[in-house]
Amino acid sequence: MRVLGIETSCDETGVAVYDAADGLLAHAVYSQVELHARFGGVVPELASRDHVRKLVPLTRQVLAESKSETADIDGIAYTAGPGLVGALLVGASVARSLAFAWGKPCVGIHHMEGHLLAPMLEDQRPQMPFVALLVSGGHTMLVEVEDLGRYRILGETLDDAAGEAFDKTAKLLDLPYPGGPALAALAEEGVPGRLDLPRPMLGKPGLDFSFSGLKTAVMLAVRQAESRSLRREDIAAEFQCAVVDTLAGKCRRAMRETAAGTLVVAGGVGANSALRQRLRMLSETEGWSLFYPRPEFCTDNGAMIAYAGMLRLRAGERAPLSIEARARWSLEELGPAGTAADAP
Ligand code: KG4
Ligand code: ZN
Repeated sequence: MRVLGIETSCDETGVAVYDAADGLLAHAVYSQVELHARFGGVVPELASRDHVRKLVPLTRQVLAESKSETADIDGIAYTAGPGLVGALLVGASVARSLAFAWGKPCVGIHHMEGHLLAPMLEDQRPQMPFVALLVSGGHTMLVEVEDLGRYRILGETLDDAAGEAFDKTAKLLDLPYPGGPALAALAEEGVPGRLDLPRPMLGKPGLDFSFSGLKTAVMLAVRQAESRSLRREDIAAEFQCAVVDTLAGKCRRAMRETAAGTLVVAGGVGANSALRQRLRMLSETEGWSLFYPRPEFCTDNGAMIAYAGMLRLRAGERAPLSIEARARWSLEELGPAGTAADAP
């Protein structure tokens, strides 16, 4: 089964072709970063219009690179939510229309299911059950993954997502958009511990997160930087350390509570090397297996949607003829999609 996957939930247009027998045949991501940079964040209307411009040419390109004719495609998958509804509707409309015109089945995919299945695109795959830490610009959550489509949210952020905290803090430090990678690079030059930042929710029971207080603490530190001789690098390093401490601490608690042996980390912040290094050390001392997608599949991409789509189409799932997109959608609402043990 060969599936065309389309991702347009935010500011990346992603397209891929995944074949159940031959794996990922082609994928391409067009990032709108430059378009939004001068606004310091994603402008939803501009994002939708750019998806309109880029999606069809990118789809043609990926079909050609995968050497697929229309007849070779067995189904189409698109991100149906959660995300920016205007951006989602572009992907949904194109996917649904292509499927209708070509007479192929179509399926709407949950963006976060795409992220948590992204490590399955690698040769070394995690075995289910596992716990997934999903850390992106829009979400921060710990999910117990029993099998395909059987997800229990163990904890999530009560306010800002981890990536959003990186982006907002980067803005406070006058770093260019997108802030996460820029802040991580600045943190490399700094020394953590030269100021006190909170480790939010770490002292409280449970597995929820909260990052907005951390951002406020950084705002105060930036204001006092001159009088306290604080360097921007040191603020960045301590901020990154506070986020990593918090994420790692909650992962340890989730792994102990569920008695899981495998942790999967996905989403844009999963590309952060300080987080990767800390979780690697923790997994060695705690005896867990740790899996990441490669960095290009940590951030938004069409490959994860094509893969999730292949599994759901294979399990018989079909989207209705209507064009559907959901700004909000819980992972726990998804139905089962077969078993991972025999997943291609
Ligand atoms: O998964 P993703 O591409 O899009 C969403 O679904 O949100 O994640 C993007 C987020 C942004 O907030 C970005 O700043 C953050 O991931 N990010 C990073 C790094 N690379 C991307 N944050 C920290 N360190 C990084 N290296
Ligand atoms: Zn994402």
